Amino acid sequence: MSELYYPGLENVIASETRISFLDVDNEEIVLRGYDLIELAHKVTYLDIVFLLLNGNLPNEEQYKGLEQDLKREAGLPKETIQLLRLLPKNTHLMDVLRTGISALAGEETEIDDRSWAANYRKSIRLLAKVPQIVADSFRAVNNQDPIEPRQDLSYSANFMYMITGQVPTETEAKIFDQSLIVYSEHEMPNSTFTARVIASTQADIIGALTGAVASLKGTLHGGANEAVMHMLLEAGAVDKMEPLILGKLSRKERIMGFGHRVYMKKPDPRALLMKEALQPLATAKGQEHLYQMCLIGEEVMYREKGLHPNLDYYAAPVYYLLGIPIDLFTPVFLAARTIGVCAHVIEQHENNRLFRPRVLYSGPRNLHP
Ligand code: ACO
Repeated sequence: MSELYYPGLENVIASETRISFLDVDNEEIVLRGYDLIELAHKVTYLDIVFLLLNGNLPNEEQYKGLEQDLKREAGLPKETIQLLRLLPKNTHLMDVLRTGISALAGEETEIDDRSWAANYRKSIRLLAKVPQIVADSFRAVNNQDPIEPRQDLSYSANFMYMITGQVPTETEAKIFDQSLIVYSEHEMPNSTFTARVIASTQADIIGALTGAVASLKGTLHGGANEAVMHMLLEAGAVDKMEPLILGKLSRKERIMGFGHRVYMKKPDPRALLMKEALQPLATAKGQEHLYQMCLIGEEVMYREKGLHPNLDYYAAPVYYLLGIPIDLFTPVFLAARTIGVCAHVIEQHENNRLFRPRVLYSGPRNLHP
């Protein structure tokens, strides 16, 4: 059996899917047949939501229908809002989010219906409510009242509004929307795998998403975007970036925002898109040094380790400049990824085989009490 042992399941194919694929050789992220980066330039996050759920891009009428469905389902149960305010004020926001999403199960009338249609409706409800839980998680631990969603704003602009309390400019909303697109779906990362494993027991979509939140919190995964921002702030100036990274490397520390299990030594196309967005944003906000610091970090890591930045490296300063609190970077990632996780859970339920691997036992034998 030992020849089937791949630590970390590296290069193991765990599922057949029609959702997405990382074509590393061609530097393309395939999403239902489209190139994710081309999509990010040409369509909006809601197009991606429709595409991931239905397998095709929406026409105008379908797009409006999706927008209306999401607006109709927006709004949190008052019990959820109260619950978030009962949590200890030092609770990590990913834990607040995990609790809030989990609590939606009690309100969900179709919780145990795993049919495609019920899972679709539940996905819409999650997509309508998760951004609000994300925004409210920050407000709850800071003793602030929730901000009600605004019906007149787009999905992304409304999400930003609920976080910052301010209506973003068109440019800001566009950059944020692009970030949600590049975070929306990425084949089989740890969090999506976690959700599929949970769904494979016939457990429900809310439980599967709750598990994905727990997975995404880790700094080797989604938690990296917050860690990147802390590193940039720790450096604080362009000339401090190189010594900071070299010092960390000499202590054998991981540099957050670099490396990737699948891309290995190839660039992450999503990072390049966020890098493109960062430069004009940093100039517009009078914070050009942030962009320069990122460039230096990128040069140093390539020179020292041959590693490229991943999405989190450039998403972090972009979110910072958009006024998103650092503690919300990973929760925002989760909100964007909700659609990817939902699509995978639906696919798992449609064509299920229980995940149940084996172990390579290296413990003692023949002991007796
Ligand atoms: N900083 C320093 N060295 C690194 C880094 C890094 N960020 N990433 C990989 N390495 C080195 C390792 O030390 C190791 O070197 P060695 O062979 O000399 O020991 C080699 O590269 C391979 O590393 P592994 O840990 O075996 O690679 P793995 O595929 O398990 O790790 C991971 C991938 C976890 C993403 C890793 O690159 C990492 O820790 N990155 C930092 C965290 C991060 O940015 N996570 C976000 C991932 S993307 C996302 O979630 C959107």
